[in-house]
Amino acid sequence: VSPKPLSGKKVLVTAGGTVERIDPVRYITNDSSGKMGFAIAEAARDRGAEVTLICGRMEAEVPHGVKIVKVDSATSMYDAVMDRLANTDLVVKAAAVADYRPASQATHKMKKTSETFTLQLVRNPDILQAIGEWRVAQPDGAKPFIIGFAAETNDVEKHALDKLQRKKCDLIVANNVTEAGAGFGTETNIVSVYGPKGLVEQLPQMSKRAVAERLLEIAQAVIGEQNRK
Ligand code: PMT
Repeated sequence: VSPKPLSGKKVLVTAGGTVERIDPVRYITNDSSGKMGFAIAEAARDRGAEVTLICGRMEAEVPHGVKIVKVDSATSMYDAVMDRLANTDLVVKAAAVADYRPASQATHKMKKTSETFTLQLVRNPDILQAIGEWRVAQPDGAKPFIIGFAAETNDVEKHALDKLQRKKCDLIVANNVTEAGAGFGTETNIVSVYGPKGLVEQLPQMSKRAVAERLLEIAQAVIGEQNRK
């Protein structure tokens, strides 16, 4: 029996949306259901990997056979990811992370006192970028292999390649979230995978599980090439 391709490997996947609290009953979030990240976690599990799934708010049922770490805000996702990097071979960031959070959180439910209300937001840490920077600072700079996502509505390739470079990923998976059958909440996705030299593969509309399988095949091929160099 041939060993499973990812046996002995530790894979970290993030999924779902972050929740940024305004007060005890209100928050800012997004439409991520967790399905894309869960499909990746399941595909990696079935290839023999030891999978940790860090999930924010989600609608889909969490997969079995993987370690689940539940988080809420971007800062708590940041801590959960960074704590585990030294022990990770492959990280896939499918979560939809809020770029901003309320500058302060009210401890009591906020009352309406005026006709208009301005909520001040401050920048969240960019987790994917922090992973890339962490790796560069390691003595061998080789691990983990980093796969990011890019949720775009226009100029998909341009924005995806910009994110790949800025966030120092090995691969970036771009989805145009305005296309039917792609992006948030859907059972399927339509993605293009980019590497440092440009387009690696454009996939047709597929189930999120099939996208996950192909993505892991591509990652394994790229890792194999890197190891031969
Ligand atoms: O969960 P589903 O309903 O199945 O939907 C899947 C999906 C649309 C959420 C998924 O396919 C997807 O595109 N995920 C990335 C969403 C996103 O936050 O994209 P972005 O282009 O804003 O961010 C780019 C990358 O940086 C992402 O890997 C993101 O996880 C990461 N990021 C972004 C901001 C931040 N502060 N920290 C991050 O790590």
